[in-house]
Amino acid sequence: DIFGPARKNSQGVATDIESEWQPFQDSVVPFMGEYQWQAGPIVNGQRLKGDTHEITAPYDRNESVGHVDWATAEQVNNALDIAAQAYPTWRDTEVSQRGKYLLDLADKLEANLGELVAICHREAGKTIHDSIDEVREAVDFLRYYPEQAKALQTEPLAYQGFDGQAQSVTYQGRGVFTCISPWNFPLAIFLGQVGAALVAGNTVVAKPAEQTSIIAYRAIELLLDTGIPAGVIQLLPGSGPVVGAPLTEDTRIAGVAFTGSTPTAQRITRTLAERDADPVPVIAETGGQNAMLVDSTALPEQVVRDVLRSAFASAGQRCSALRVLYIQEDIADRVIGLIKGAMAELSVGRPERLSTDVGPVIDQTAKDKLLAHIEQMKRSGKLVTQVPLSEDCDKGTFVPPTAFEIRSIDQLSEEHFGPILHIVRYRADALDKVIDDINQTGFGLTMGVHSRNETTCAHIEHRARVGNCYVNRDQVGAVVGVQPFGGRGLSGTGPKAGGPHYLYRFTQASVNVQQV
Ligand code: NAD
Ligand code: ALA
Repeated sequence: DIFGPARKNSQGVATDIESEWQPFQDSVVPFMGEYQWQAGPIVNGQRLKGDTHEITAPYDRNESVGHVDWATAEQVNNALDIAAQAYPTWRDTEVSQRGKYLLDLADKLEANLGELVAICHREAGKTIHDSIDEVREAVDFLRYYPEQAKALQTEPLAYQGFDGQAQSVTYQGRGVFTCISPWNFPLAIFLGQVGAALVAGNTVVAKPAEQTSIIAYRAIELLLDTGIPAGVIQLLPGSGPVVGAPLTEDTRIAGVAFTGSTPTAQRITRTLAERDADPVPVIAETGGQNAMLVDSTALPEQVVRDVLRSAFASAGQRCSALRVLYIQEDIADRVIGLIKGAMAELSVGRPERLSTDVGPVIDQTAKDKLLAHIEQMKRSGKLVTQVPLSEDCDKGTFVPPTAFEIRSIDQLSEEHFGPILHIVRYRADALDKVIDDINQTGFGLTMGVHSRNETTCAHIEHRARVGNCYVNRDQVGAVVGVQPFGGRGLSGTGPKAGGPHYLYRFTQASVNVQQV
């Protein structure tokens, strides 16, 4: 049995314990500064050349991180052929063998933590804690899905027959799965999709986000080092329209796992619907307009701590992040005052410093969009506070953490993916209207609730149309195997990632009925 003792989630690094922190730091340093990576398409185990693009660090646009070659149309076509040819043998490979490659990869990620953390800093602008968590979450997915696949695929599910019939259900991989991932969880979501698809018995064509292909490239190199057959995994860096779109249009694909923005998910769904081919499943995990409701029974200091983490950790670049904070008017002045004070303590700066709370946003396009939203909110809302940026931020794509008071969530027409918090005061007797307004956005990813009143909490949980509801805590950082994660409505199709139903959508079921 490859699984050994009960699975445990990855431990990460205790940054406040010198004996853990120092060796960790020593393992990151060689990959900082001048170190450069070269990445590109990997097709059938071959590293290929394409159009070369330079990657620069989000915290200093003069710092080159390396170069990525984007896949050509011919490479995409070859990759699909190779993945299709490799499928039957991979589907029939023992599930424990498929899982073994992922478990080996999880070990290799832990063994290469220093390099992977350095890539998270330099390519994605992630802080130390976010970078460690990124690798941990990837490791957790790679250990969790094999366990789930074993449960699903080792023994057929037997059902009680009648008239002497024996009946069973088996689950097999579907074929070639397209995996398309975003830059904000460039290792965890990338490998979560790829790992789930592979272990369920599919071969994979994977397109990482154009901003974060280096870490995806290193992950696939490490996966190939496990000895996995080269035909089962193809890496195709490139832009959405040029590389992503053909991977959803092609009739050789048997399913799509997509995580990213809602408009892209809608485009992919339309593309799949228009293909003159088998209907195939799409698993879309998308954006949110996430709210937190705070009533007058809440503990203000706890609210402030959880608001700061939910809205500003990862520079607000989490799909789960808090965008709209509703505070009951009786305690609003006090809580807003505390939030202002706490925001003044936020340290915004280079991600590789342990003291940094908020790093840069991913690129200039994101920064420009967020700054334009801040300007617009200055006109249509009331500025509560804005954290000034130090000189440290001049060379990078930083956005100042900012809070506004607004009237209602319907002033926001889209998800604003950065460190911007909107605050709304509400009256206790308007609670249901508030929940209905939040539901009315059509998004349904996360919600936070702060209340000491259990009836209120239960009522909100019941009425709100959201995928993940968090009570008296922050609303980010779902844990694999413990808090399955995913939204409703415009926020995604499900099944939830890191949960027990995720793998089903990557398989097809056969029912066998036999007269005995
Ligand atoms: P995005 O939609 O711009 O891009 C995501 C991926 O889709 C990228 O790899 C991109 O190249 C690709 N793509 C773009 N156009 C395409 C097309 N026409 N065909 C095929 N692929 C195409 O999103 P992003 O900016 O990279 O990521 C941020 C978004 O992701 C936010 O909206 C965030 O809320 C969401 N997100 C959701 C979850 C979740 O679990 N619900 C998790 C992380 C991020
Ligand atoms: N799974 C990530 C979180 O919960 C997106 O923050």
